Amino acid sequence: MKIFLGSDHGGFELKRELEKFLAEKFPEFEIFDLGCDSAESCDYPQFGRAVAEEVLKNENSRGIVICGSGVGISIAANRVAGARAVLANSVELSNLGRQHNDANILALGGRTKFYDPWQKIVETFLTTDVDPAERHARRRDQLDNF
Ligand code: RB5
Repeated sequence: MKIFLGSDHGGFELKRELEKFLAEKFPEFEIFDLGCDSAESCDYPQFGRAVAEEVLKNENSRGIVICGSGVGISIAANRVAGARAVLANSVELSNLGRQHNDANILALGGRTKFYDPWQKIVETFLTTDVDPAERHARRRDQLDNF
C-alpha cells in the first residue's frame, strides 16, 4: 500500500517520528513524504491538498496529514472531492473513521494531546476494514454525491 504523508511546521517533528515508525512496523508499505521539508514556518493548506490529491490518484492508498492541531490540514484535505479525512486523537475515532466513514486520510495534531499513543491511532487507521453495513454504505455514498 502507498502511504502519502504531509505536514506543516507544526507537524514536522511528529512526521519524522511517524516515518521511522512506519518503516519499522510496516516495511511492506511504500512511504511518500510530500512535504514540508523542515521545521520552518509554512502553510498547511498546500500539504493537505497535495496528500488528498495523491490518495485519490492512487487506488487503495492512504494519507496521513499533520499540522499543529490537525484541524487546518484536515479541512484542507477534506476540500478535495473524494477525500475523507478523520482527525483522530484516540484509537476510538481512528477505528470509527475507518469502519463507518471509510476514511482514506488520517489527520493528527503534532502539538496536541493524544488519548492513546499515536502509534496505536496510526496502526488502527492502517489496519481497520470498512464496515459494509448498508446504513454506513448509504451515508458514504451520500458524501460522494453532494
Ligand atoms: C501553525 O501555527 C498552526 O496554525 C497550524 O499548524 C495548525 O494548527 C492549523 O490548524
